[in-house]
Amino acid sequence: MHDKIQNLIREIREVKAQSLDDVEQLRLKYLSKKGLVTVLFDDFKSVPPELKREMGQMLNQLKGEAQHKIESLKADFEEKAENAEKTSDLTRPVSLEPGTRHPLSIVRNQIIDIFSHIGFTVAVGPEIEDDWHNFSALNFTPDHPARDMQDTFFLTRDPDILLRTHTSSVQIRTMEQSQPPIRSIFPGRVFRNEVISARAHCIFHQVEGLYIDKNVSFADLKQTLLYFAKEMFGETTQIRLRPSYFPFTEPSGEMDVSCNICGGKGCNICKYTGWVEILGCGMVDPNVLENCGIDPEIYTGFAFGMGIERITMLKYQIKDLRLFFENDVRFLKQFQG
Ligand code: DAH
Repeated sequence: MHDKIQNLIREIREVKAQSLDDVEQLRLKYLSKKGLVTVLFDDFKSVPPELKREMGQMLNQLKGEAQHKIESLKADFEEKAENAEKTSDLTRPVSLEPGTRHPLSIVRNQIIDIFSHIGFTVAVGPEIEDDWHNFSALNFTPDHPARDMQDTFFLTRDPDILLRTHTSSVQIRTMEQSQPPIRSIFPGRVFRNEVISARAHCIFHQVEGLYIDKNVSFADLKQTLLYFAKEMFGETTQIRLRPSYFPFTEPSGEMDVSCNICGGKGCNICKYTGWVEILGCGMVDPNVLENCGIDPEIYTGFAFGMGIERITMLKYQIKDLRLFFENDVRFLKQFQG
């Protein structure tokens, strides 16, 4: 009897249950009228008197442990069931934090807003492009270095199918499909085979602008961009245009804005020059108009292209481009829009 009690105590300490039903089975096995513990109490009657005291204590310990174990297993399952009920109560008030817009979306929407006030419509084009729309129609010569494997992601062995390297491809699609006047902007993702760093990424975002009509001049381009810069960076913002080269514009320029962080005095964002470059622009090359079936003798126009990441970094003083793509909530929730 001594050994039987010892074994049962050990067994009960180890016992496990998967459900409330299991717990009930355990109760029946040990504590019901025919249960193993109850039966031992019956056997107690035939224990010789000199052993009764010791056996009695052991039996009481066994019974106590069995009851305690079964009660605590039961309580565990009841608590779990109660919690499960709580999580599925659809009427409970929620404490979910609402999400915020991505900073790149905020700035893209702002750019769209600014240009829509002066009559620019919005259009989009495909991210997978062909050589004609991404390069040839934009007046890139066959040996232009931007076509190099280093910059362009080709999708097939045939170098005709690629991921667009800029949104200028949408200029071509728009001019092919419609006659002037055209006044549109084209936001979108672009792809370049660049090593990822604080200042470069293989995927980024641009907004392209295009205005084609009779008598469009460089003065119109300059005025449009000055309006944009003041709306985006503040009324006191100044611009300057430096001569540059793009195959699809002639003349071409790059535009700087006065540094909105130091107000032009010089800081590490503007590398102590007081100016930061934000876009490329120019008058659409007559060859490009011709490639799209627009008569360059009748129409002229301007185009520009800007990187959304660059403008967002300047606006919010973000120093590492990779933050835009990591989706760290601690970064993202600082932006409201
Ligand atoms: N496509 C150029 C780039 O990705 C940017 C650009 C420059 C666009 C001049 C234009 C432009 O429309 O006129 O670097």
